[in-house]
Amino acid sequence: MVRICIIYDKLRFEEKKIYNDIQQKGFEATLVDGKSLIFDTESSKSDSRFGDIILQRVISYNRGLHLTYCLEQMGLPVVNSSSVSEICGNKLITSLILKKNGVPTPKTTFAFSTESARECMKKLGYPLVVKPIIGSWGRGVYQIKDQSMAEMMLDSRQENDNSFSRIYYFQELIDRPSRDIRCIVIGDQIVASVFRYSSENEWRTNVAVGGRTEMAPLTSELKEIVLKASNAVGGGILGVDLMEDKERGYLVHEVNNTVEFRGASAVCKSDIAGAMTDYLVKMSSK
Ligand SMILES: Nc1ncnc2c1ncn2[C@@H]1O[C@H](COP(=O)(O)OP(=O)(O)O)[C@@H](O)[C@H]1O
Ligand SMILES: [Mg+2]
Repeated sequence: MVRICIIYDKLRFEEKKIYNDIQQKGFEATLVDGKSLIFDTESSKSDSRFGDIILQRVISYNRGLHLTYCLEQMGLPVVNSSSVSEICGNKLITSLILKKNGVPTPKTTFAFSTESARECMKKLGYPLVVKPIIGSWGRGVYQIKDQSMAEMMLDSRQENDNSFSRIYYFQELIDRPSRDIRCIVIGDQIVASVFRYSSENEWRTNVAVGGRTEMAPLTSELKEIVLKASNAVGGGILGVDLMEDKERGYLVHEVNNTVEFRGASAVCKSDIAGAMTDYLVKMSSK
């Protein structure tokens, strides 16, 4: 019997749903809190808690990534792999990889100090979008409308000093409807596609800031771009997010590594957790 281990740091709807689904399908499931784990250089695959395959669902980018390195070192298959996690958890790397692989993506500019960020914004002009290179739920994603907002942003980055706060990620503001698209990809299958509409007085469409989901038709063009984006980052269980530019069409702006699907599962008929289980079972014997 296949044994699947789910590693988490906070139990959300998704982890519980996948855990129940694995058991309902007759497989063994364990839930392990990543915060409780200790590894050493001798740690081995024979640790029974980890089963045959691991689903990595840790929210914290750094914690999840470093745990994945340890688990992979033990010779265990981890979904998503460390290389996929590294790319998807970091917006700068994601943008570069998408572009390199011919996936349409917004034009993005990077700067590495306060001075160059200031110069960069002046050159790019306003409005523009700034994002932390690591983060989710729309946190720290702002529209900079003029120079005074630009100075405020630079100030707050200086106060909020961490190793990523002097890495600046500036993106063109995409002219799009008040929605974006989230597609959930498992291996080479797209199991759900939804529109996420932003709430009133909010331009970001994240469900975490009040976005509302509706089923979106999976056109052949959308399918092709989504699979291209998923392959570009290395594939696995992913959430590919796209915007609809009024002139250029679909632009992929993000690929999520520990994808949330509560909103999507409420409006899509497909069994998202079930498809994840099937994929993990398949991958456990590879
Ligand atoms: N360049 C952009 N133009 C217009 N809207 C954007 C742009 N980038 C992000 N957004 C909006 O902000 C939301 C959050 O940005 P995103 O890059 O997905 O960061 P996060 O990882 O925090 O979700 C997106 O879902 C989208 O609605
Ligand atoms: Mg997003």
